[in-house]
Amino acid sequence: MTINPGFTLCFLLHDDQVLMLHRNFPPNQGLWNGVGGHIEPGETPRKAVIREVKEETGYEIDAPQFEGLLTWDGFEIPPGGIAIFTAQVSHPNFITNHEGVLAWKPKDWACSAPEVVDNIHVFLPKILAGEHPQHFHFSYEAGVRIKDVISEIPKDFDMEKIFEPDDNLQEEKRGDFILSFDKERLQLDVIEDFLSKQSYWAERRPLEKIIRSVQNAVCLGIYHLGKQVAFARLVTDQATFAWLADVFVHQDFRGQGLGKWLVEAACKFSDQHGINDMLLATRDAQQLYQRYGGFSPIEDPAKWMRRMKADQ
Ligand SMILES: CC(C)(COP(=O)(O)OP(=O)(O)OC[C@H]1O[C@@H](n2cnc3c(N)ncnc32)[C@H](O)[C@@H]1OP(=O)(O)O)[C@@H](O)C(=O)NCCC(=O)NCCS
Repeated sequence: MTINPGFTLCFLLHDDQVLMLHRNFPPNQGLWNGVGGHIEPGETPRKAVIREVKEETGYEIDAPQFEGLLTWDGFEIPPGGIAIFTAQVSHPNFITNHEGVLAWKPKDWACSAPEVVDNIHVFLPKILAGEHPQHFHFSYEAGVRIKDVISEIPKDFDMEKIFEPDDNLQEEKRGDFILSFDKERLQLDVIEDFLSKQSYWAERRPLEKIIRSVQNAVCLGIYHLGKQVAFARLVTDQATFAWLADVFVHQDFRGQGLGKWLVEAACKFSDQHGINDMLLATRDAQQLYQRYGGFSPIEDPAKWMRRMKADQ
């Protein structure tokens, strides 16, 4: 079965809360749901969800995370597909919505309250637990949900349809992995989790600073079946200089060549832009950069200066 989602559904997250919409209109009138809506002709699901979230809540999300596919039969609207997303937002202030009442609700409430669209109880706990994107199919009879089937995303479902192809962005596939320079794909929760909880260099960097650092840099991500597993960014003028920073591979995916791939891709980008000078700092991964990027220790450190301030 080929699935072509016609709708998006997005759960905005802030602290321990989910933004929910009490719907004024069918379908699911009178119940709480996520936000989202129709995918317009010519729109990818990702573009549609960014637009819908902006229209319905005022939030300008730039990195919605694909979380799964929802399909149904026997429901009040004909069978179809919904691409489910989540997105972290940095503040709790939304705008008034004309399709219903918006409110921040505790995650546990959204996963279990009877006032919530009931199939959400099935997939939201899995999504919030960080499970990989799955296909949720629900069968209805006379308005009642009678069967749930949870399975892997069908093999013929083209994950790439979630994202707009952009010829200017470099992308490379290796088996189930994709390396991409497309910032729209970045999954900020993955990046924040690693940098603030696991890295030795950015443990106190707040989310707001991480977001700005991503917005103003060239970023590389590696994705495994839609989930981000590696990251690096280049702070660069794209002409003379680049600083390679925040390089990491998720611990479950280390030792498979992804670190080398990131370094090689960053250096290729730098070469393509005619950049002569690349710098980085590392505590213990010198050999990675030496072997796969041609980096070497600074020979004349006395020439280099640094201005360092306490965290701000
Ligand atoms: C460093 C890191 C990015 C490497 O990623 P990876 O996918 O496991 O690495 P790869 O499988 O591509 O192989 C890494 C290569 O670098 C070498 N290497 C050198 N120092 C290393 C180090 N500190 N950690 C891992 N590999 C290192 C490995 O030996 C290997 O080379 P080889 O295959 O020729 O023997 C990953 O271990 C990581 O995210 N670590 C935590 C964050 C971190 O330290 N980042 C670097 C900050 S400068």
